[in-house]
Amino acid sequence: MRVVRSSAEVRAALKRARAAGARRLALIPTAGALHRGHLSLVQLAQAQADYRVVSLFVNPTQFGPTEDFTAYPRDEECDRRLLEEQGVELLFTPPVEDIYPQKPRLGFEISGLADHLCGARRPGHFNGVLLIVAKLFNLIQPEVAVFGMKDLQQLVIIKQLVRELSFDIQIVAAPTVREPDGLALSSRNRYLNPEERRQSSALYRALERGQALIAAGERQAERVIAEMKSLLEAEAPLARLDYLEIVDLAKLQPLKQLSGRCALALAAYFGRARLIDNLVLEVRGEAVRELRAI
Ligand code: PAF
Repeated sequence: MRVVRSSAEVRAALKRARAAGARRLALIPTAGALHRGHLSLVQLAQAQADYRVVSLFVNPTQFGPTEDFTAYPRDEECDRRLLEEQGVELLFTPPVEDIYPQKPRLGFEISGLADHLCGARRPGHFNGVLLIVAKLFNLIQPEVAVFGMKDLQQLVIIKQLVRELSFDIQIVAAPTVREPDGLALSSRNRYLNPEERRQSSALYRALERGQALIAAGERQAERVIAEMKSLLEAEAPLARLDYLEIVDLAKLQPLKQLSGRCALALAAYFGRARLIDNLVLEVRGEAVRELRAI
């Protein structure tokens, strides 16, 4: 695996790779501290492309002033080893000055899609995500880019970016990878102490409870949310709920009555770890099914 650290180098490396025959290039953007969830993205990309580029960059513009940018876990050596084992062709891991030689003066206005869920709690976060993702798309010009379903709002907004700015890139959604007790894998899980870790699996049980109620015929979002919250209160007293919402998948707006494609989504703090998770459902009349990719 080749490692490059500047925009100029990545462009040159990809020009050479294309000249040498790479035809379908996949980008897997990451912030490092890789776990099995990231590796599943890398594996999914293998089926989609003949050349895989992983970017490893902790993007400062998507962190708020009180968030964990400096403390965000970083372990480049371990990440490199894991990616090498996966047979990744190129790792792009630039310093902040390469990506942002000056403070960005332009931004994105995201209408509607960032009004709820993480967008409402992390002002500016998705603008920062769009800045880095658009930069990576322009620098790397992949045919395919893979993003995880765990960051559902990010995925929906990036799909909108691709449509609105006419990027010729296929966005592939990768199903959330979970621990055996249901906790979604996240780089922030390493912040959890043993008791927080034990209780954190209630997040997924709350989602499952919501899913079961909807499958049994409940269509009032308010009732589903109330049941999910009471499960969390009973099983995860250490959780500080940030949000728990049910939104439609197209516009990410809260639903009163459940129908069509919708997402049960939540975020909660356990100590300093802010964990997010979601389940995407398709509700058609009486039929309810989970969508593991969108
Ligand atoms: O999902 C992430 O890890 C980040 O938001 C991303 C897409 C790498 C952009 O910094």
